Amino acid sequence: MIQVDQINKYIKKNQILNSVSATIHKGDSIGIIGPNGAGKSTFLKILASILKPDRGKIYYQGASYKEKLKELRSNIGYIPQDIALYEDLTVQDQILFWQKASKQKVAKEYVNKVMSALDLFGVQDKKVKALSGGWKRKVNVSIGLLHNPELILLDEPTAGVDLAAKEDLIQWLKLLQQGGKTLVMVSHDWDILNRICEKIMIFQKGKLIFFDAFSKLEEFELNNFGNETDKDLGKLLKLRMR
Ligand SMILES: Nc1ncnc2c1ncn2[C@@H]1O[C@H](COP(=O)(O)OP(=O)(O)O)[C@@H](O)[C@H]1O
Ligand SMILES: [Mg+2]
Repeated sequence: MIQVDQINKYIKKNQILNSVSATIHKGDSIGIIGPNGAGKSTFLKILASILKPDRGKIYYQGASYKEKLKELRSNIGYIPQDIALYEDLTVQDQILFWQKASKQKVAKEYVNKVMSALDLFGVQDKKVKALSGGWKRKVNVSIGLLHNPELILLDEPTAGVDLAAKEDLIQWLKLLQQGGKTLVMVSHDWDILNRICEKIMIFQKGKLIFFDAFSKLEEFELNNFGNETDKDLGKLLKLRMR
């Protein structure tokens, strides 16, 4: 579905991504982990066509991103790490607003399905500023998925989310996954990684140092612990084994 071929990204002379290559297949569910500043969000933004790589190529369905940009954008749902909502709009108006602003076709039945899956009908008349972080995150996620995209890119979807909201999100993502959608998510949350992701990518200092089945992670850890492993990455991996 997507081929990433040796991409580099610089921001103000700093190298953020270093020769990253990867192939993402239709139906994959990939979790991206790594220390802060490793380039995870930058990589996700490049997949989402929000940022362009400085070197290297990226292909969608066999053609370059540039050639396929329109089709690509209508097939992608990107949910950013930062919540981007209008605080003074109610949840319902917020969703209506994005539905109208979206260049993509949005089916009313699908909007209802998303709202019901994320349990948003109960808060539809509340202003966003009156919602807790977990509810805001759910509204944010719903907006990114209104056009029923094939490829879903999520940046830390469970950060600051209470357990009930997290459970709604996980159940919804599971349904999407079972429906054949392709998921790529940045997360430090082993609960969601374990339950959703079949493959794991590890970024360290701009490099993709591991991309394989979740089940291969243990072997990777055994081979890397105590050696050159970044301290933060070591801590992150240890959390999994608790
Ligand atoms: N707009 C920007 N301007 C300057 N530096 C940036 C910008 N975006 C990201 N960076 C830097 O790039 C590095 C990687 O950022 P990011 O991809 O957000 O990492 P991660 O998501 O893994 O924490 C960090 O060192 C960050 O400070
Ligand atoms: Mg990030």
